[in-house]
Amino acid sequence: MLQDLSQYVLDISENSLKAGASRVEIELCVDEQKDLVSLTVTDNGPGMDEELLSMVVDPFCTTRRERKVGLGIPFLKQAAETCEGFLRIDSGKGEGTKVNVLLRKSHIDCPPMGDVASTVVALMVGWPDRSFVFRYAVDGKTLDLSTDQLLEILEDRNLLVLPEVAVWLRKYLSEQIEKLHMGRK
Ligand SMILES: Nc1ncnc2c1ncn2[C@@H]1O[C@H](COP(=O)(O)OP(=O)(O)OP(=O)(O)O)[C@@H](O)[C@H]1O
Ligand SMILES: [Mg+2]
Repeated sequence: MLQDLSQYVLDISENSLKAGASRVEIELCVDEQKDLVSLTVTDNGPGMDEELLSMVVDPFCTTRRERKVGLGIPFLKQAAETCEGFLRIDSGKGEGTKVNVLLRKSHIDCPPMGDVASTVVALMVGWPDRSFVFRYAVDGKTLDLSTDQLLEILEDRNLLVLPEVAVWLRKYLSEQIEKLHMGRK
């Protein structure tokens, strides 16, 4: 079982990337008032038909065994439902995919956020030819970062894979995320 939400973000985003999406949007929202955490990953990939969709959500619902299916999404679904929330996937063949998860933040079993900054950097650096749009929101205050924005600064896609860039980006993101959480106090 994965331990924190950032690991699920990586798992779900990698599904989008491996499926061939050229653009992945990741949104993490914390609402202290409503006591909710939400995660949405939207891609412009090939989408899934009904059969594949049901397998991805519940790999045990089929007798077919030849197709390898991971447990990331089923575990996240279970975690969400345990925490008074849900996991929903909107997808259709040729229509892209949207995975939406909601959890009650104060629930004892709600997974911690984890190292979201490292996850986002791993995605942007690990898949430099794709476009990412990342948003992190705490009580309406937001941090936005996209590959397009980064390329405006770097002016060269090849620079995305430089270790210095990864270190700088990770530091920037973790500081900004921390600020969002501190700002509400
Ligand atoms: N966002 C997506 N768009 C299109 N197809 C998807 C998407 N997410 C999952 N799938 C399909 O569902 C299959 C199963 O996904 P799942 O995450 O369960 O396993 P996997 O990604 O193949 O393996 P693992 O996660 O263990 O590396 C994928 O191989 C892919 O065919
Ligand atoms: Mg997967």
